[in-house]
Amino acid sequence: MKGARKAHATRATAVVGHPVRRKDGLDKVTGAARYIDDLVLPGLLYGTTIRSTISRGEIASVHLDFDTTGFTIVSARDIPGKNVVSLIEADQPSLADGRVEHVGEAILLLAHADKERLLDVRVSIDYRPAAPVVEPELSPTTFKEITIAKGDLGRGFAEADLVVEGEYRTGHQEHLYIETNGVLAVPGDGGITVHGSLQCPYYVHRALCELLSLPERKVRVIQTETGGGFGGKEDYPSVLAGHAALLALKSGRPVKMVYDRAEDMLATTKRHPAIVRHRTGVTRDGHLTAIDIEVLLDGGAYVTLSPVVLSRGLLHATGPYRCDHVRVHGRVVKTNTPPNGAFRGFGAPQTQFAAEVHMDRIGEQLGLDPIQVRERNALRPGDTMATGQRIEANGGALRVLREAARRTRFRQRRRALRGTDRGLGVALFFHGAGFTGSGEVKLRSKATLELTRRGVRVGVTATEIGQGARTVLAQIVATALGIPYEHVEMPPADTSLAPDSGPTVASRTTMIVGRLLELAARDLKRRLRGRTPAESWRAHGPISVTKEYTPPPGLTWDEEQYVGDAYGTWAWACDVAEVELDRDTGIVRPLRITSVADIGRVIHPVMARGQMEGGTAQAVGYALTEEVVMRDGRMANAQLTNYLIPTTADTPEIDVVFVERPYRNGAFGAKGVGELPMDGGAPAIVNALRSLGADVRAVPATPERVLDALSKG
Ligand code: MOS
Repeated sequence: MKGARKAHATRATAVVGHPVRRKDGLDKVTGAARYIDDLVLPGLLYGTTIRSTISRGEIASVHLDFDTTGFTIVSARDIPGKNVVSLIEADQPSLADGRVEHVGEAILLLAHADKERLLDVRVSIDYRPAAPVVEPELSPTTFKEITIAKGDLGRGFAEADLVVEGEYRTGHQEHLYIETNGVLAVPGDGGITVHGSLQCPYYVHRALCELLSLPERKVRVIQTETGGGFGGKEDYPSVLAGHAALLALKSGRPVKMVYDRAEDMLATTKRHPAIVRHRTGVTRDGHLTAIDIEVLLDGGAYVTLSPVVLSRGLLHATGPYRCDHVRVHGRVVKTNTPPNGAFRGFGAPQTQFAAEVHMDRIGEQLGLDPIQVRERNALRPGDTMATGQRIEANGGALRVLREAARRTRFRQRRRALRGTDRGLGVALFFHGAGFTGSGEVKLRSKATLELTRRGVRVGVTATEIGQGARTVLAQIVATALGIPYEHVEMPPADTSLAPDSGPTVASRTTMIVGRLLELAARDLKRRLRGRTPAESWRAHGPISVTKEYTPPPGLTWDEEQYVGDAYGTWAWACDVAEVELDRDTGIVRPLRITSVADIGRVIHPVMARGQMEGGTAQAVGYALTEEVVMRDGRMANAQLTNYLIPTTADTPEIDVVFVERPYRNGAFGAKGVGELPMDGGAPAIVNALRSLGADVRAVPATPERVLDALSKG
């Protein structure tokens, strides 16, 4: 890797913008980093979960058909606090109590000192099954409904020369972090310590307090080295940590639970499937006069994070386009399938897939090429979005669109490919950085800096999940404080040592937590009065500075009306995908993707590019191969042999270009990058297929779907 060779050890201080060595790099490449499965304690028990095999019904009886000597057994009756996975609503039980709502729902927990004995466990459960709801369109239960409205839709359609309609569908997606979910719970002092592979230590902390009926100080959550999250370790670890903690408290011994791949795929959250309908008014010259969008998300059996996934999905549903008359309405509904949850992009990949395929169709009907129709409507500085949020002076989608078109010579290339089996497609997209609406205000994130003998120690619960948080946050601190990067200590996220700096989600860590640390470092620098940390330490001993989030001036948000600044700022990007189609088999090979992105100031160029490449590769899987086959509410292909993610051989060359327009309220001008690249790859690829005559309206665009689309074309 070219970037890695460029990485250098440094005693330099102004390291923002430079590819410094990863804080966690050496331990990971040498194998010294210890993940949950590496941790062993004296007296350790191994836990396992007995799960529902049906998607809906009552539990009539449970029989243990094995020798239970030496086993710790936990059911709903053993829960000391509330039998609930505390998140947004209190609807999801930690352990099923009398009834089940989905396949894979946990019913019973077992632990034993001998891992092998867990294989002998035989439990038979008699159910009184009920008819499950598996089709979201047939669901009688709405978890959340939201409407965004602007202008007068009737007037907008009256001004239109043409109305374009369409329906678009996206499926589940499995996170496939390289490390499956795992935790280790250790009882002691009348409380519990949980070590885990997780994104959000304080989410788990709160869930454990409720489940175990323990005061906050009796619960400690420590993140271990984590092999990927992608949102899949945003909500689910609260479930698993609760299970291990229940077993640990009952047995009085440490309990480890690590899912194998099949269990992780079968039982944990996935991306919400979506059905999105567009009805759009346009003038003959290609201006949007009215946008009417209807979104339906499949929430699965419990609420989990669905209301906020819906919210983000709707706020991104128009795509980065201007229009005076807009209505976006959506619902997320219950089905008897495992609960869907957070996944990189959080609703936005689904709705922007629809918006971008629809935009190509609008262009086709008007005889405008994909760049023209987007240029006419792309958000520009001063324009307002559906919520009324005004685009800042250096914002908007136009710049990345023009750069992508220029760099790929889009029009010439499309013309050159005409009549061949290669197609070229574009997608223009955006992603709101940070929590939605008043979310950041409610979170009131905090970050601490403590002077050490030679530098500083960072106190945050932002988690390193492979994305580079530790490195980027240390770069920000070193630069703001003017000390060597090596002198910034980044301890693991631990609720007993660091304040709540909010969950590591929503592309918020660099921009929001980084900004808090930047401000804390500037404060600390003033207090050092020109001394080095070492000199100050010798003269005055420890100093610590804590900063709490305050919203930038001028941001407003009305949660009831869905009006105002939905996000502090937005990242903008444009993908151009070139693909090759085998017309006999329907197999699509992505050849090259160019991704032009404005993520504000780039803090670490190699890792930022890594985020763009990884997210784009994940979008390639979403676009083409990643199909979760649900049969009667059960994932039928919970194996890596038939749930297909792109390997390196399937991943195209990805050309990443950053257009750096700094955001004044982000750390050193940074915005978010984590989720953005997930939004654009699928529509760019599907639009490339459109240019080859395949009218595909759903992802994944499997060979069957592509052949079907070709036969209708
Ligand atoms: Mo996320 S999908 O905001 O971890």
